[in-house]
Amino acid sequence: MQVLLAIALAFGTLVSAAPATNETTAQASEQLTAPQRAEKIKDAFLFAYHGYEEHAFGHDEALSLSGGKSDSRNGWGATIFDALDTLLIMDLEPEYNRALNHVANVTWTVSKDLSKTFETNIRYLGGLLSAYDLKPNRMLLQQAVTLTEQVIMPSFYTHNQMPSQYVNVTTAEPSGKQIVLAEFGSFQLEMVRLSQITGDQSYAEHALRIIEKIAEVTPRLPGLYPMLWDLDTFRPQHEYVTISGGTDSYYEYLLKTHMLMGGQEQLQLDMWTTAVNSMNKHLRSKTSGGKVYLGEYNGNIKLLQSGELICFLPGNILMGARYLKNNDYETFASELMDGCYHAWETIPSGLAPESWSWVDEKQDVTKFPENMQLAMQTHDLIPQDLYYDLRPETLESLFYFYRMTGDTTYQDKAWKIFESIEKYCKVKYGYSRIGDVTVLDPKDAHHDDFEESYIFAETFKYLYLIFSDTNLISLDEYVFNTEAHPFKLPHPIKLQKTF
Ligand SMILES: *[C@@H]1O[C@H](CO)[C@@H](O)[C@H](O)[C@H]1NC(C)=O
Ligand SMILES: *[C@@H]1O[C@H](CO)[C@@H](O)[C@H](O)[C@H]1NC(C)=O
Ligand SMILES: *[C@@H]1O[C@H](CO)[C@@H](O)[C@H](O)[C@H]1NC(C)=O
Repeated sequence: MQVLLAIALAFGTLVSAAPATNETTAQASEQLTAPQRAEKIKDAFLFAYHGYEEHAFGHDEALSLSGGKSDSRNGWGATIFDALDTLLIMDLEPEYNRALNHVANVTWTVSKDLSKTFETNIRYLGGLLSAYDLKPNRMLLQQAVTLTEQVIMPSFYTHNQMPSQYVNVTTAEPSGKQIVLAEFGSFQLEMVRLSQITGDQSYAEHALRIIEKIAEVTPRLPGLYPMLWDLDTFRPQHEYVTISGGTDSYYEYLLKTHMLMGGQEQLQLDMWTTAVNSMNKHLRSKTSGGKVYLGEYNGNIKLLQSGELICFLPGNILMGARYLKNNDYETFASELMDGCYHAWETIPSGLAPESWSWVDEKQDVTKFPENMQLAMQTHDLIPQDLYYDLRPETLESLFYFYRMTGDTTYQDKAWKIFESIEKYCKVKYGYSRIGDVTVLDPKDAHHDDFEESYIFAETFKYLYLIFSDTNLISLDEYVFNTEAHPFKLPHPIKLQKTF
């Protein structure tokens, strides 16, 4: 295949070189023990959750700057469902009981918006199943089954039984002709777990059939599938290959479903190893400064661009490396982890930009515009989209690395990220997405008054678990869905280091 190297042409404003750490604060925080750090993270979670309870309870999100509310996920109270298991993990009983009262009262057939099947599956169903696994309760299971029957299964009422992107919850009709790999390719964990709990195999069968149908399609790069597909023909609509938003959880779930099913299936594990081999061979790129990032492909053009969303991958590959005892995957995972963390530590605020590009070591850097050369010299990457949406992916990988290696430097990295979130994203009623990570003064960060429900499921949960007793939600006993909701493994596996 002819391979052309290309680099994205847009680039963000350059950031000045400035010391990333403050000696005084760095030394002070090193004195905190892991349990003390966990307590501080719990305090931060509670501050945000109480802000939500006071100003937006029952709605999907709090507007953390203004004290308003928002309903971007059907108005069923997404933040509550995403927070349920974290409330149990952090032992917050009064908040949990208030949350349960809301959960019991949700009517799934009422919403003024279409249900986005994927989001409903990972946030609402994922939250219910995980809370049920942590503390069994008939109401939670009843709501999980009702939601699935009324809103998720109707997405499969299509001529080929592949799930539609949307469902009209009042008519139970599937809607949308285009489908997205990360969405239709990651139903298995929730559906398999629901089948395991209820004994009704039809949920798992529907989800597993999707992966079998994907396996019938032969992509240009082995195991790596384009992002957008046509529902009716069940074929890709273009040749754009990325592991970032739009495809990410498809790859994540192949390995995790194999584990949840106790190694009972082989197809998905094979699809995962084929994909990871291809990522290493085709997407991996190294800078002359030695940083490794994962690029993308459009047709046969390699694009040297990546982003924070991809940073779940180092943890996922390390999990596979340990499971399969594969040293090449172990090395690949570590390189990617270093590249991901670098995107945070090289920016003076300590927060990663949403996306970045770079110049590969095999390219002649002097052929690029001066400001790109300067960014490469200073940062070993070129920031593109400068916002930070309170994303958890790098923290997620740091959690896997810490639990599987026991190396406390991963805890220190997570703590630095937490300190930056505190400094730049904390606002009056919680935490807010910011518009520009390259500023030094938090007042210039462009807080845009939105607090995604996933911070309660993912960002604060991974942070808390990194500093908690390693037996709390052990990776030997639980597998996390892509919204960080842990599901109980029917058959424990050995992934964590013995502490
Ligand atoms: C470092 O942190 C300390 C304690 O928060 C603060 O007093 C000091 O001004 C900071 N120094 C710089 C250079 O930011
Ligand atoms: C439960 O729902 C009913 C009808 O939608 C409503 O009137 C009632 O206030 C709700 N109760 C709680 C505790 O939210
Ligand atoms: C769902 O279908 C009903 C009946 O056709 C329609 O009135 C309603 O607007 C639809 N809902 C959405 C969100 O499109």
